[in-house]
Amino acid sequence: MDKSPIRNIKGVKDILPDEMLRWEAIEGAARRLARVYGFAEIRVPIFEVTELFARTIGATTDIVEKEMYTFPDRDGKLLTLRPEATAGVVRAYVEHNLAASSPLQKFYYIGPMFRHERPQAGRLRQFHQFGVESFGIASPRADVEVMVLLWRFLSALRLPDLTMEVNSLGDAADRSAYKAVLLSFLTPRETQLCGNCRRRMTTNPLRILDCKVPECRAATKDAPALTDHLSPVSRRHFEDVLDGLRSLGVAYVLNSRLVRGLDYYTLTTFEVTSGRLGAQNAVGAGGRYDGLVEALGGPPTPAVGFAVGLERVSLMLPEAALPPRAPLVFVAGFGLEGAPVGRILLEELRMRGICSETDYRATSLKALLRQADRLGAAYVVIIGDDEAGKGEVLLRNMQTKEQEALRVSAVSGTLATRLQIR
Ligand code: HAM
Repeated sequence: MDKSPIRNIKGVKDILPDEMLRWEAIEGAARRLARVYGFAEIRVPIFEVTELFARTIGATTDIVEKEMYTFPDRDGKLLTLRPEATAGVVRAYVEHNLAASSPLQKFYYIGPMFRHERPQAGRLRQFHQFGVESFGIASPRADVEVMVLLWRFLSALRLPDLTMEVNSLGDAADRSAYKAVLLSFLTPRETQLCGNCRRRMTTNPLRILDCKVPECRAATKDAPALTDHLSPVSRRHFEDVLDGLRSLGVAYVLNSRLVRGLDYYTLTTFEVTSGRLGAQNAVGAGGRYDGLVEALGGPPTPAVGFAVGLERVSLMLPEAALPPRAPLVFVAGFGLEGAPVGRILLEELRMRGICSETDYRATSLKALLRQADRLGAAYVVIIGDDEAGKGEVLLRNMQTKEQEALRVSAVSGTLATRLQIR
């Protein structure tokens, strides 16, 4: 039998218990703030029919062309591991006719996404997002609400060196008029573009503005900005978003290159970047997608949302943002009479909601105390045969090293009070 070790898939990471404290802090802040801003949790499947993503994200995007994990189901139907969750949330919104009870619905989700990208720091093939989607409000106030939530979430976690970048892609008519302007600018410069961008000239010229290849950056340096070609209505929307951000104290910079890698956006797009992340500097991003519900067979419904890459948040999370570990009580029961009393006490403490541990291998007090030290216990409950005979324990405070005798029956109550466990 082959017993060689089996290794993880490239770009797919285990999250080990040591890192979990960071994830608890991140997910805790996400849930708390989402609720405070009125978003309810939704869980959509991690795989869907492939057509859902092709129709929403766009057939000529990098995600759909190159990055999806797609496979035939046993009956031959093509399925895809979700590369993002907006498409699935919109599908669920339409499928369950959620607009019927109220077209205004606000959802949040946390979960894994899958993209076959080249792995590097901050870029994985399975990664996690916290995202929100707000349906039913065309007003720029809804854009501001989600952008402010994104900003407050990242700020609550004290992430360093953040910038909110904002752009407007206009409506469909603005974009198609701008495409002509952009193409007439790019055509004489076509030979300076990378192969990918030359192809984009016919498929998706706006994406050329977002290309990271230095030659393409140089060639598009003086490209006309879409925001200079907005209709009066789109311009008003954009300015109201910027006004809203200013009035709530969220600083931003305009970035006319922010076209995003997904085709469903209309009007506002935004991205929060950090100077501490290297090449993959986008922490979270989103925008308005007013046509998507209708494109999936629902009623015309304006919508806006964002998603944050949680691995990137974890990479930047300062120690100071981590919650303190719950204090641990270690029960050191030993000897023929002490050990069984210790086991009962351990269970009593746990039933009170006190984090408690022992070491079933250790038989001597010395070995037990060594393990208590290793685990960083706040208190040790010592109970040998002598103590058991008197119906007592010794309670040792590991920080002050003070020790006191307590009745066995008083241990869990005393510790619950000291550790403020209700
Ligand atoms: P996105 O820009 O594709 O947007 O992804 C959002 C965030 O997910 C990125 O800013 C990044 O932090 C993280 N991310 C993306 N790809 C990877 C990767 N391969 N490894 C690690 N992190 C990654 C969306 O997904 C849209 N659904 C956002 C949205 C929601 N727009 C409207 N509503």
